Amino acid sequence: MNDTLARGLKDVVLDTTESSYIDGERGILLYRGYNIHDLAANSSFEEVTYLLLHGDLPTEEELNSFKKRLKAQRGLPKQVIEVIRLVQNAHPMDVLRTGVSALSAFDPDTEDMSREANLRKAERLTAQVPTIVAAHERVRRGLEPLEPRDDLDHAANWLYMMTGQTPSPEAVEAMDLDFLLHAEHGANASAFAARVTASTLSDMHSAITTAIGTLKGPLHGGAAEAVMKMALEIGTPERAAEYIRQRLDRGERIMGFGHRVYRAEDPRARHMRERSRILGAKLGHEEWYKLLQVVEQEMQRYQSRGIYVNVDFYAGSVYHLLGIPEDMFVPIFAIGRVPGWCIEILEQYDNNMLIRPLLKYVGPMNQKYVPLHERKN
Ligand code: COA
Repeated sequence: MNDTLARGLKDVVLDTTESSYIDGERGILLYRGYNIHDLAANSSFEEVTYLLLHGDLPTEEELNSFKKRLKAQRGLPKQVIEVIRLVQNAHPMDVLRTGVSALSAFDPDTEDMSREANLRKAERLTAQVPTIVAAHERVRRGLEPLEPRDDLDHAANWLYMMTGQTPSPEAVEAMDLDFLLHAEHGANASAFAARVTASTLSDMHSAITTAIGTLKGPLHGGAAEAVMKMALEIGTPERAAEYIRQRLDRGERIMGFGHRVYRAEDPRARHMRERSRILGAKLGHEEWYKLLQVVEQEMQRYQSRGIYVNVDFYAGSVYHLLGIPEDMFVPIFAIGRVPGWCIEILEQYDNNMLIRPLLKYVGPMNQKYVPLHERKN
């Protein structure tokens, strides 16, 4: 029996994929062969979702009918809204996890494991997840959830459902880009967790519920929230360098830096950095961008150890500038990641093998069973 340890499954190649390619040494990310920089400059979340789910960029007609399908499926069953009301005081990620789990009770395809049904569920979940997040935000503020608006695309409609206001073009652009950049990222912890669930031939709602629970942790999706909390604690750019030095001296990690795969700058980070700069200048709040720049400079000495800025570092400042509460930052990541989770699950179903690693036992052997009444304290 193989007893070589691969703790954290570091550097273990689990399976093959056609959905994304990552070169961690050179900081390259491709979705189905298309460079993330090209997609960030030219594409949209809907187009990238189509690319991931259906295998190639859509024609204009395909994109239009895809957008129509998404719009038609944004609504939630009223029972799911009731569930959201019942659990409204929980963390938004717990509410999202519960909401997706509840959706399975009302989805017409829940138990249908055909490829067509799984694709329908993937599209439906992409459309419904933002509605759960927005409905919860409204409910916990004592407001009624808003009906989705068919005249607005994915990012714009989500911002509208959160705030009740037609969002500004800058806000829509920032969120569309953010969703696009988060759409897919190989065997990251949450996609891997989703694959584990799918590998038992459990259904897609169960696998997405697993993924949401996994994304919540601060070492994965929670980093953007932690970065903004840190920025608020620092307060002003002038205090940033000293704060970072003290934290590093105490052996603490700086959130938004480091990555399991990238040993160069995360290619998504530059787009969020730029968006943070543009939005800060536009809204007259350049202090967050400036503060984060100082932190990035202070962290430069860690580059020799392969620790660079990641996608989450500037993301928090963008959300903050848009007036989004901090505990909504992870759900935003989830909204963007649904297509990636779904395609990973579909790939797992298409070429399934139960995922079941081993553990090396290091406990005692040959223990003698002592009857309860003979055991001493
Ligand atoms: N700040 C300071 N030091 C860091 C660091 C950070 N953000 N990330 C990693 N390191 C250091 C570790 O302390 C460790 O040092 P050591 O070898 O002296 O003990 C070394 O780099 C390797 O870290 P390790 O946790 O083993 O690498 P990993 O591949 O398991 O970690 C992360 C990847 C993402 C968990 C890690 O970089 C991290 O915790 N980052 C902060 C959280 C974050 O931003 N997550 C979002 C990822 S998109």
